[in-house]
Amino acid sequence: MAVIIVTGTPSTGKTTLAKELAKRLRYKHIDVNKVIKATHLIESYDKKRKTNVVDEKKLSKALINLVKKGGNLVIDSHMSQCLPAKYVDLCIVTKCNLKALKKRLEKKGYSKEKVRENMDAEIFDVCLTEAAGHKILIMETSLKKPKELVKSII
Ligand SMILES: Nc1ncnc2c1ncn2[C@@H]1O[C@H](COP(=O)(O)OP(=O)(O)OP(=O)(O)O)[C@@H](O)[C@H]1O
Ligand SMILES: [Mg+2]
Repeated sequence: MAVIIVTGTPSTGKTTLAKELAKRLRYKHIDVNKVIKATHLIESYDKKRKTNVVDEKKLSKALINLVKKGGNLVIDSHMSQCLPAKYVDLCIVTKCNLKALKKRLEKKGYSKEKVRENMDAEIFDVCLTEAAGHKILIMETSLKKPKELVKSII
């Protein structure tokens, strides 16, 4: 049984990489957003930041329960690092060149403020900092295609 978590600032390429990696390794891809909805972990809605507020302690418990069920998993979320390190074999942190990231965020239809907030999160390495304690592999996603990234991970 192996567990890989994929974290990183929104639009840095977590889902693209996690799906490709899961396909290549024949692991199950876990979309944490679905776990959050299925286990009713949305506490409130932050109107100003236009985002759902999730209880991280509850999410951590839900992810632990999921891992305990067994199987090889690729867990995809900018909050996946809240799964304690003892349950995780590898933590991949996706990073993206700022110019490319801005384009990706705009393409997803984020507001100017939301683009700025996510750019700041990338500049200050928020997800990478939060992943401290995990065995970390940083993947820059603006230079290589997903398949090539997976090759170098393996
Ligand atoms: N290696 C790559 N090369 C080129 N484009 C990429 C690569 N990885 C991701 N992208 C593109 O970047 C955009 C964002 O990717 P993706 O949705 O996987 O990011 P994410 O981190 O999962 O975002 P979110 O946090 O919103 O779920 C998509 O348009 C995707 O096609
Ligand atoms: Mg995603």
